[in-house]
Amino acid sequence: MKKIEEPDFGIVTDTIKKVMDFEPEHYKLKPLRRRIKARMRRLGIDDYQEYSILLMKDKEEVERLKRVLTINLTRFFRNREVFRVLEKEILPTLTNPSIWSAGCADGAEAYSLSILCHKLNMDCSIIGTDIDSEVIEKAKNGIYKKISLIEIDPEIKKRYFIREGLDYRLINEIRSSVKFENLDLKSIAFKMAFDLTICRNVLIYLNKAFQEQTLLRFYEALKPGGYLILGKIESLAGSAKEVFKPYDIRNRIYAKN
Ligand SMILES: C[S@@+](CC[C@H](N)C(=O)[O-])C[C@H]1O[C@@H](n2cnc3c(N)ncnc32)[C@H](O)[C@@H]1O
Repeated sequence: MKKIEEPDFGIVTDTIKKVMDFEPEHYKLKPLRRRIKARMRRLGIDDYQEYSILLMKDKEEVERLKRVLTINLTRFFRNREVFRVLEKEILPTLTNPSIWSAGCADGAEAYSLSILCHKLNMDCSIIGTDIDSEVIEKAKNGIYKKISLIEIDPEIKKRYFIREGLDYRLINEIRSSVKFENLDLKSIAFKMAFDLTICRNVLIYLNKAFQEQTLLRFYEALKPGGYLILGKIESLAGSAKEVFKPYDIRNRIYAKN
């Protein structure tokens, strides 16, 4: 197959902006290009112009590309150590906490927090948001494949899930405790609303400028002293380093200054 010419890359990113609710300029260029090319190769297309024309007329391809670009990989209690610190150290210090799982994918992270609050007998209000409307619908359904539960403690699995054939359904009490919304991080304007914001494995896909802008939005959205949790390989960017202080650096937990 002919090598995809790079100067035309702008054609496809312009088209993406027109046909989907996704702004390529907020994302890191290399992974973005790699993913778009992978989609094109699968379709046997080696020309950005041709792929752009396809995107203009094929809604299903738009959805497929969006799924590839947003990467929805997640699972319950992902990186369990963070949830251990939350359960033992952080949640017990909060009263009726309000919690935001930003970039929540299919909701496993938001529901993991709801399960912890339930275990601790705490009332909480939790919202999960994501740019991808399809995963938000999945989150609302609360039905998961076995693979989503691989990090879960067997006791929790037994208490909070009902087996349905090959799937696992969350009990209603947990399912109804979390609200989900389809939201792009760029348009979020919460003010001092949360005790805890968890945004893991989302910033890594964003370019530095948008990372910084997003982190400052998280700062605005947190109540004084509120906590921010990032993914294992993520860290604070730019001026956000000055407005948060580390609480548990190994687990990427920060507190609002
Ligand atoms: C790898 S998943 C992370 C899920 C979960 N936080 C975790 O760590 O298990 C990344 C999620 O970020 C979402 N995302 C990417 N860009 C976004 C944006 N601009 N606004 C909101 N969500 C976004 C994707 O749709 C995807 O569901």
